[in-house]
Amino acid sequence: MQNTSKILIEQAQAILRQNDRGGYTVPTARLYPFQWNWDSAICAMGWQQFDEPRAWQEIDRLLEGQWVDGMIPHIIFHKESPDYFPGADVWGVPDGCLQNGKRLPRTSGISQPPVLASCVRRLWEHSRTPQSQKARMPRLCKQMLAWHRWWWSARDPGNSGLVCIYHPWESGMDNSPAWDGALQRVLPLQNPSYQRRDTLVVDLSYRPHQSEYDRYMALVELFRGYEYAQQKLYEASPFRVLDVGTNAILQQANQDLLALVHEFGSVQEVRELEERIKLTHSVFAALWDEELGLYLSHDEISETPIRVPTSSGFLPIFAGLPTKRQVARMAAEVQRWAECCEHLIPSTSPFHPCFESKRYWRGPVWPHINWIIAQGFEKYEYTNVANRIRESTISLISKNGFQEYYDPHTSEGCGGSSFSWTAAIALLCFNR
Ligand code: GLC
Repeated sequence: MQNTSKILIEQAQAILRQNDRGGYTVPTARLYPFQWNWDSAICAMGWQQFDEPRAWQEIDRLLEGQWVDGMIPHIIFHKESPDYFPGADVWGVPDGCLQNGKRLPRTSGISQPPVLASCVRRLWEHSRTPQSQKARMPRLCKQMLAWHRWWWSARDPGNSGLVCIYHPWESGMDNSPAWDGALQRVLPLQNPSYQRRDTLVVDLSYRPHQSEYDRYMALVELFRGYEYAQQKLYEASPFRVLDVGTNAILQQANQDLLALVHEFGSVQEVRELEERIKLTHSVFAALWDEELGLYLSHDEISETPIRVPTSSGFLPIFAGLPTKRQVARMAAEVQRWAECCEHLIPSTSPFHPCFESKRYWRGPVWPHINWIIAQGFEKYEYTNVANRIRESTISLISKNGFQEYYDPHTSEGCGGSSFSWTAAIALLCFNR
């Protein structure tokens, strides 16, 4: 076993090195040839296991893409690549959105789950060279706080305590069946002339349907037309969803940022974060569904809960949001899913009619989601559940390599290969 883990660690390190494009890590060659937001934050924790300076560099390169209004976009296009669609020109972000009107790097026009502050806190607390890193911390805290404020205002203009997403890609769980209903409201592009690139690299049956892609692209066109003016997007987007995963991740990130700001920020910033955390905490319980035993996203336009059980519904445990009784209910639900799927945690409940074991976010297992949920169960001292999830992750990776995601029934690896955050999660699992 020791030999196996040594080999896996070496392979994982080699994948991160191989996907390094000069201070930032691409998720995988060809399929995703740029820097992705939450991938990068997770990769930084992987880099820290064997090359700490490179981990901090990953964060700096991600922050190069931050907008003047604080948003950290979901893709940073540091260098051009013909392998991905939609590229920088299609997003058409005006220069004025970028920091100081700088032209480079160009970016996409939406964001992704804000796991960054949680990762940076971990980098800081596990740093082997805190004296050399200390100087960068006040700046990092300012930049992360600016991003969190962007979520609180641009994506929650009514200050409800919960934020919305305007595009399925903003959830990071792009093709989740939870978005199907809300996506129907988006008129697909008429006579689309674009050519998808994803299906040139990965089997079509693992990827979203064309009808969904035409809707994704219609949203991009709409946002570009409004030049990403946030108030306009709020009023005009036919897709406005309160995503439980993004909200849970943001709540934990607020708490992690608070810990850092105590050390590196001002009293005023501490208060601001404390207030937001309290507000979110007070409204989160409304997303709980007792019958399904997990939390649900909400369609903000039809004002209805989205009763599709997905792994996202377990994420609030990461932020310490559920009561002990709710955690017991969630643990039982994970157990029930495990009776049907040998490999945990399927991204959609295996009992739901929309479950598909190989299609992108409609059933497969993602290692980083496992890692986040396992951390949550650990916090509540459900060590058995946490270990069961981690063992599942390691066994999937050791049997089938560092894939983008895995079939929860057969363990088959799907999507892109030599995948960066899968490598990072393996390194974290071995170095707990
Ligand atoms: C897919 C995933 C998204 C991820 C990206 C790069 O688009 O849905 O979460 O960030 O790939 O790995």
